Amino acid sequence: MPKPYEELLDKVLIDSDTLQARIAELGREISGDYAGVGDMILAGILKGSTLFLADLMRHVTVPHEIDFMDVAAYGAGSRESDGHVRILMDLHADIEGRHVLIIEDIIDSGHTLAHVLRILSAREPASPKVCTLLDKAERREVPISLAYVGFQIPNVFVFGYGLDLDEYYRNLPFIGIAKT
Ligand code: IMP
Ligand code: MG
Repeated sequence: MPKPYEELLDKVLIDSDTLQARIAELGREISGDYAGVGDMILAGILKGSTLFLADLMRHVTVPHEIDFMDVAAYGAGSRESDGHVRILMDLHADIEGRHVLIIEDIIDSGHTLAHVLRILSAREPASPKVCTLLDKAERREVPISLAYVGFQIPNVFVFGYGLDLDEYYRNLPFIGIAKT
């Protein structure tokens, strides 16, 4: 049985109102940037991006499809990714010639996303771009170009709002820092 989250939480890093306000802002920015294109795919990386995608898409006024991809870092279960990633579930859509915006919860070392970008770029989308809710830039091991970033965060382990603590507590409406 999982412990109550109150016992695992050090403190709230980003509260729900702050998250929602920034997500609305991101949605407006994306809507403006893609207005001329008129069509896009929001591609969420499971499972962490689900809450972010659900809230973000409500603020995207450009007609769009949503799709999902599930990837796993080898040695999953650990808090470190080593750069090797396998596809557990691929996108359903054919992205060739389409504008794809990858939706991520958090970019840490950057290995997961670098791998996803390599795979998706090979399919020749009109544009592959990345929108992440959180960016732990300090931890980056591979350079990644991020088109949209919700929040820069320090090198702490966070959970809530899609991010898990050993698979639990993705449902929390805020981003919390886990006790070490
Ligand atoms: P990267 O390949 O090191 O950039 O790792 C990215 C993935 O690691 C994210 O999609 C998350 O699933 C996970 N991750 C990294 N940092 C955290 C964190 O602080 N909390 C929860 N998951 C994290
Ligand atoms: Mg993830």
